[in-house]
Amino acid sequence: MFKQAKALTKMPILLKIAPDMEIEDAVTLTKMAVASGADGIIATNTTVDYSLVKEPKDIGGISGAVLKEKSFKIFEAIAKELYGKTLLISVGGIDSAEEAYKRIKAGASLVQILSGLVFHGPDMIMNVNKGLIELLKADGYENITQAIGADRK
Ligand SMILES: Cc1cc2nc3c(=O)[nH]c(=O)nc-3n(C[C@H](O)[C@H](O)[C@H](O)COP(=O)(O)O)c2cc1C
Repeated sequence: MFKQAKALTKMPILLKIAPDMEIEDAVTLTKMAVASGADGIIATNTTVDYSLVKEPKDIGGISGAVLKEKSFKIFEAIAKELYGKTLLISVGGIDSAEEAYKRIKAGASLVQILSGLVFHGPDMIMNVNKGLIELLKADGYENITQAIGADRK
């Protein structure tokens, strides 16, 4: 499927996964995707695990803070297998520099923040960037590239 898609475009093609599948299945799926030509993995999309919220409205995927642990767990499992072999992007419940840093050290070359911006506003980006600089300094890194996948080494 990736080979066919790549024949149609010069743009990279990444697989974005849901956080609701079994971790083993997610790892198998993402490894197969990379072996088949995917240029990277994005983990994760929103969840339909409505047990995460008190009074859920069954109208779609849930994002934001309640997704944080679930999203990280699946990202980390994938990173353990695929870090260094493909581009990994972490998304889901990231709401602070600490959480972004955790994902970077786990193996993410990029992190995405969506719902966090709704609750913390656009200043959040500046705060996360400033916080990341402090966290990098505290760990003795000169640039962020050195921190990517630090937990995998
Ligand atoms: C309103 C809304 C629309 C979204 N639309 C898309 C989409 O079109 N394609 C996609 O891959 N993910 C989409 N997502 C999922 C987000 O990209 C992201 O994976 C998810 O919200 C978890 O990140 P967050 O907790 O930072 O919001 C959407 C999320 C929200 C809240």
